[in-house]
Amino acid sequence: MATYVRNNWFWWVVTLTALAPMGWLAWRALTNSLGVDPVNTVNNVSGRAAMIVLFFSLACTPLNTIFGFRRALTVRRSLGLIAFAYASLHLLNFVGLDYGFDWNLIVQDAVLDKPYILAGSLALLLLALLAITSTRGWMRRLGRNWKRLHRLVYAAGVLVVLHFLWQAKAAERWEPLMYGGVLAALLLVRVPAVRNWLVRQRGARSARVSRPRAAQAD
Ligand code: HEM
Repeated sequence: MATYVRNNWFWWVVTLTALAPMGWLAWRALTNSLGVDPVNTVNNVSGRAAMIVLFFSLACTPLNTIFGFRRALTVRRSLGLIAFAYASLHLLNFVGLDYGFDWNLIVQDAVLDKPYILAGSLALLLLALLAITSTRGWMRRLGRNWKRLHRLVYAAGVLVVLHFLWQAKAAERWEPLMYGGVLAALLLVRVPAVRNWLVRQRGARSARVSRPRAAQAD
């Protein structure tokens, strides 16, 4: 038991934190306290949670690259799946509660008329593809192509920022632009020259830390 807790506490803390908005929504729905416009509340919370959790999943690899924080890699897949779950709820709320499953109206009023819906739908399709192929079986089947396919998560991130930006009013654009900045920084860390420089800095940092200890031992 103690070994299980020692090895898995980080995964549990991160997963439960990422699921907290879902719990909050469920609690509010059960107690009939989603506010004057429940559809809008669910839309805002599920959309933001999907995007933020997705960006945390994108931050896992850089956290390991820059700080050598290997535990971050253990939560990457769960965070991706939780982001997909929030995005699915966001879609269900939109087609079910907002449009009452009226597919003709959805296509005419939303998909054809609002480019941000198209960007969101494409992002969700990519997230679905990545969620389906996130299993060990698909990893084995796709081999080297698995990594290439899963780089599409960055395309999904760009589409989500565009989706958010296109639907925001001029005075509120600072928020999607801020998330766009975060995504740009995460993408920058993936550029080989930048990544190699960061890895060298980490090596130099740990050499500085271990040198005084070695001197003490002498
Ligand atoms: C089929 C896919 C999608 C549909 C139909 C959809 C629909 C919508 C709608 C109708 C809005 C509100 C627009 C308004 O208030 O005027 C919205 C906002 C938003 N969506 Fe989506 N969306 C989709 C996919 C996604 C995905 C995949 C994400 C994130 C991973 C996302 C994140 C957001 C965010 C952050 C907002 C802003 C919420 C706010 O204004 O507070 N959406 N979406």
